[in-house]
Amino acid sequence: MTQLTDRPDRYGLVSRVLHWGMAAMFAAQFLSAWAHWALPREDALRGILWSWHFDLGMTLFILVLLRGAWGLANLARRPSHSGLMGQATAIGHLAIYALMVIVPLVRIVAGAGGEHGLHYLGLQIFPARETPIAWTQAVAEWHGEMGWILAVLVLGHIAVAVLWHRVVRHDDVLSRMA
Ligand code: HEM
Ligand code: HEM
Repeated sequence: MTQLTDRPDRYGLVSRVLHWGMAAMFAAQFLSAWAHWALPREDALRGILWSWHFDLGMTLFILVLLRGAWGLANLARRPSHSGLMGQATAIGHLAIYALMVIVPLVRIVAGAGGEHGLHYLGLQIFPARETPIAWTQAVAEWHGEMGWILAVLVLGHIAVAVLWHRVVRHDDVLSRMA
């Protein structure tokens, strides 16, 4: 029977579904960020790709909180990371988690204190304000830069998982998440 919770030799079904489901969603989110950065404002493709950035970003924020809580609940039984390489892996995962929370959070805070308010799936979560709260706008200034740092960390993470573990070391690290 498929195990829901993690084990020392393998991530359970919940962790795997969250990992791969969110990986696909992050790919779509970075695609929309790329369109915002690279394509001219009047380009129709930019409009299409950018259209999901807010709702998908909010969804990712909710999912990362659930994933973090599930990870903490499974901490004692999930695959551990020992040795120098293991410690580097743990720090890398922690940095990815930190940015997965901070990157959407600063924009959500900016929406909550901003003149357009905050909407999610068509629902108004925070109303529009006549005067934006200055500090809520200031914290969001680094949203894009931090988002790109997250993208670089994720590319490094994929390279380590596929090139280092699979191609060079031939170990079971990729298969415990597969
Ligand atoms: C994990 C989720 C998210 C990631 C990875 C992400 C990533 C990014 C990146 C990399 C950019 C820079 C695009 C450029 O260089 O032109 C960007 C821009 C932007 N994002 Fe996000 N985003 C996320 C969530 C959100 C959320 C939840 C909101 C709104 C509620 C949002 C609103 C914006 C806006 C308005 C911009 C353009 C202004 C700026 O660069 O700050 N994003 N996002
Ligand atoms: C092709 C894409 C990807 C591959 C091949 C991959 C591979 C893996 C593997 C093999 C592990 C287990 C590593 C271990 O236990 O030492 C893992 C864990 C992890 N991955 Fe990925 N990954 C991918 C995409 C992503 C993306 C897009 C993110 C986040 C934006 C991400 C974030 C994480 C995190 C935080 C962990 C730690 C375990 C957890 O709490 O889920 N990965 N990944």
